[in-house]
Order: sequence, then structure tokens, then C-alpha cells
Amino acid sequence: MVTSHRVHCTARAAYPIHIRAPAASECSVPSVAACMSADTASHHRRLGIRPATEADAASICTIYNQGIEDRLATLETTLRTPQERREWLAARGPRHPVLVAERDDAIVGWGSLNAFNPRPAYDHVADFSVYVERASRGTGVGGAIIEALEREARRLGYHKMVLAMFAWNDAGVALYRKAGFRIVGTYREQGRLDGRWVDTTLMEKLLD
Ligand SMILES: CC(C)(COP(=O)(O)OP(=O)(O)OC[C@H]1O[C@@H](n2cnc3c(N)ncnc32)[C@H](O)[C@@H]1OP(=O)(O)O)[C@@H](O)C(=O)NCCC(=O)NCCS
Repeated sequence: MVTSHRVHCTARAAYPIHIRAPAASECSVPSVAACMSADTASHHRRLGIRPATEADAASICTIYNQGIEDRLATLETTLRTPQERREWLAARGPRHPVLVAERDDAIVGWGSLNAFNPRPAYDHVADFSVYVERASRGTGVGGAIIEALEREARRLGYHKMVLAMFAWNDAGVALYRKAGFRIVGTYREQGRLDGRWVDTTLMEKLLD
């Protein structure tokens, strides 16, 4: 179990009026107060990342299906079942781990290192996935999962991590940029989503 601590900047406007009002009257607080919000700090303290087990299949399924329904994360449109996720977990080899993020004994996200291409010539490249439960998005879970996946990728000797995503996934773009990934290009009309061709954006990070 790995725990994470980070400072999070919160715009003053995000604070309830009973917190903002006194600060406003003092006219000494800048417009964006770099205040460590107590709840955000405790969010991070209570977050743990660990390898997934078969018992996590139902939670992973629920969170994956939210990502599928939201049309933010994947060309997949078929919702999964816990049994399908159990079989998916059981079929993972040691170089393709699945991790879950846990907060207050609830699974709030998962991530995995995936095969980029089955040909041995690409064994040094890891594709990866990150999915955070809807209500827990924006609270540092995605960032913690990526940090853990990158540690795993280094431990397993991967040279780089790559991903394909939708350009309209603002949270994803911001998350990956923040984690040091760069955009390498766009596949035009790479797949069909709800009957229309969509592009995918490719990003990468070298690990050495
Ligand atoms: C994309 C996703 C994984 C991000 O994870 P998250 O837990 O919400 O992200 P975090 O809270 O760790 O935020 C990390 C950074 O991303 C950015 N970010 C997060 N949510 C954002 C949003 N809605 N809009 C813009 N930027 C956002 C912020 O820069 C944040 O950094 P900060 O510490 O400066 O605030 C999550 O929103 C998700 O699971 N979405 C649905 C599935 C999906 O899109 N998966 C990725 C497929 S490529």
C-alpha cells in the first residue's frame, strides 16, 4: 500500500462564502488563495494504491462503465460485466499489472499497464489506462494512479509509456501533461463513436 501527499491550489471562489468573506475584507489575500484545503489534504492522506485482486472486479467494472457511458475515454461502447472483468484480470501477465486506488475502503479508481503491440519488437513500450470513479474525479486519484503506474513501468523495465485519447477530454489532457507526457500527434478518423468518425490524440513519455 503506497500513500500520497500533495499540495492542491484552490481558487478563492471555490470556498464557501463564510470562509471567503473575512478574507475579502482583509484585502490582503490575492485573488487565488494558495490555501491547502483541509479536505483535499485529507483526500490525499486517505488514498492508497495497491495491486488489484479478483475481488475488485465489480468495482473496476462499475468505474470502467462510467468512463464508457461518459464518452470521454474510449472507443468502446459495450458496457462490461463483473464476470468479464474477472476474466480480464485473470488473463493479465506479470508485465501488465492492474492497480486500484482505495479511499476509506472504497475503490475510487483503477489503472493498468497494457501491451502496446503484441510483437516482441515493442516489448519496451507500455500502453496504459486510468479510470476514476465519477464522484472522486478532480481529487488527485488520477494523478496518484499515474505515479504508481509509472513506478511499475520503471520496475518492469519499460522504456516508455504511450496512450491514445480524445482531445475533448480536458481532464485527461491536463492530467497527462502534468505527469510529463507530450502530444506526439493525432490519428484522424481513427474509430467510430455513436455513428461518427472521431480522431484520437497520441501522447508519450520516455522513462529513462
Ligand atoms: C481523466 C481522469 C483520469 C483524471 O483523473 P482525476 O482523478 O480526475 O485527476 P486529478 O484529480 O488527479 O487531477 C490531476 C490534474 O488533472 C487536471 N484536471 C483534473 N480534472 C480536470 C478537469 N475536469 N478539467 C481540467 N483539468 C482537470 C488538473 O490539472 C489536475 O491537476 P491539479 O492537481 O493541478 O488540480 C478522470 O477524470 C477520469 O477517470 N475520467 C473518465 C475516464 C477517462 O477519461 N480516463 C482517461 C482516458 S484517456
